[in-house]
Amino acid sequence: MSHDEVNSGTDEQITLLEMRGIEKRFPGIIALQQVSFGVKAGEVHCLLGQNGAGKSTLIKVLAGVHQPNDGEILLDGRQIRFSSPDDAIKAGIGTMYQELDLVESLTVAQNIFLGHEKSRGGFSSHKAEQVEAAKLLGRLGHQEISPSMEVGELSAAGQQIVSMARALSREVRLIIMDEPSAVLDSEEVRNLFETVRALTASGVAVIYISHRLEEIRVIGDRITVLKDGRAVASNLEVSQTSNGELITHMTGRTISNVFPPVVSLLDGTPDILQVEELVIAPGQEPLSFNVRAGEVLGLAGLVGSGRSEILAAIYGSTKPVSGVVRVEGKKLRPGSAVAAVKAGMGLCPEERKSQALLLDDTLISNFTLASIGRYGTAGFTSGKNEYQVSMEQIGKLELRPADPTREARTLSGGNQQKIVLGRWLSHGCKVLLLDEPTRGVDVGARSEIYQLISELSRAGIAIIVVSSELEEVLGLSHQVLVVSENRIVHRGMAAELSEHQILDLVMEGTTL
Ligand SMILES: Nc1ncnc2c1ncn2[C@@H]1O[C@H](COP(=O)(O)OP(=O)(O)OP(=O)(O)O)[C@@H](O)[C@H]1O
Ligand SMILES: [Mg+2]
Repeated sequence: MSHDEVNSGTDEQITLLEMRGIEKRFPGIIALQQVSFGVKAGEVHCLLGQNGAGKSTLIKVLAGVHQPNDGEILLDGRQIRFSSPDDAIKAGIGTMYQELDLVESLTVAQNIFLGHEKSRGGFSSHKAEQVEAAKLLGRLGHQEISPSMEVGELSAAGQQIVSMARALSREVRLIIMDEPSAVLDSEEVRNLFETVRALTASGVAVIYISHRLEEIRVIGDRITVLKDGRAVASNLEVSQTSNGELITHMTGRTISNVFPPVVSLLDGTPDILQVEELVIAPGQEPLSFNVRAGEVLGLAGLVGSGRSEILAAIYGSTKPVSGVVRVEGKKLRPGSAVAAVKAGMGLCPEERKSQALLLDDTLISNFTLASIGRYGTAGFTSGKNEYQVSMEQIGKLELRPADPTREARTLSGGNQQKIVLGRWLSHGCKVLLLDEPTRGVDVGARSEIYQLISELSRAGIAIIVVSSELEEVLGLSHQVLVVSENRIVHRGMAAELSEHQILDLVMEGTTL
């Protein structure tokens, strides 16, 4: 196919980039097979596909991180070959990776200009970088991020913004965004989209990866869908493709009604978790609430509203100023996660990479980690061995590839998230704290996770779910607490709340 044929129909837009017949093999796995698609200047081209479909691998081939085993890449109709990420950057391709690759011990400005420092050494260049970094962050609507801050001190959302500023600090013609919205709240996603629109208006092309179809509707022009390493549909027009069609392309089946029904609790169901007058930081209002056996309590609020801090204080990974947490009436030692785990509490944290996963270890080690904390040894108390338990989890979570001896690092982002969740499921928890349980998880696996949460609640476990997706909070929970600036601004039954009302409450709360 010639360069011109790809453009047929839309003459105003020229094809900037083409990938043809891309193949990428890892030991024992063919991650990409014969993948072809084209990106036009000024368009947002979305890559869709289930966890492990090959999206990140494809963009890493484009970004010069991986060398393809076969296929060609054309930029402006000319064949190119990137032997390193630097080559791709020089050709005007900027990348925001799914697993952020910033240097935590360096400042924001140093990260942004790493590899292309403003000039050689000296005070003035340092100053110039700070000024330039502040400008870039301002352009992205994030003046509050200081260029002199250490990147390690920033939240995942903040780091995502810095990663974007870094990509924009160079002349870019194409910018790749691998699930940027996974760590952003709805306001930040809106900011991101404004930046994307400004970029595309100036002719820059964007490759956008997300599992959220509603985002793709808002920002995308065309879509390429990957399934098991193959492009099952290339260059679809967003406006002419329904969500149903997209889901069918991705999964090969139709998925509807993702939320299992929330079972109502019987009168007299006992409280399992009691949070009494918990003060998380000096000067904050005390928080009190209970979660009953089989109850799902949703915490809704913006990123940074204090939801994760509440979970951390309950779990004991941070020490509260005052207040009491009880599991089945028994008071927990404040600030002791070990005590919490012993009492039957489990936490799936928000940042799986830094907080929850043993990336260099096998899936078996990852699944059995919780029992190490719980029983003081690596042994299981049930009759099953670790391999069997891991295989069961792999089946339940539909992990791919289904090999418990693999290193966690080599699994795709969404599959890593499933491991973190799966770890607690084998451990008979009484209380489960889930922070963004479906972040980076595809539509198919998402309904599996909803099903799992529902089953756990039916089994009598008290569950708290934090999610930035209001639909998820409402769809899973019995009761919802709306949190804004570390305060509970509303409590209500999920069935009596709408997404709109929650948003209003959140907005009101933050302007006070
Ligand atoms: N460095 C690696 N070594 C071995 N296998 C790998 C490596 N990187 C990726 N894979 C495998 O390649 C396949 C595609 O993974 P990839 O990360 O591209 O998926 P993805 O579509 O980005 O998924 P997600 O939505 O979960 O991020 C997976 O089976 C994964 O396990
Ligand atoms: Mg990925």
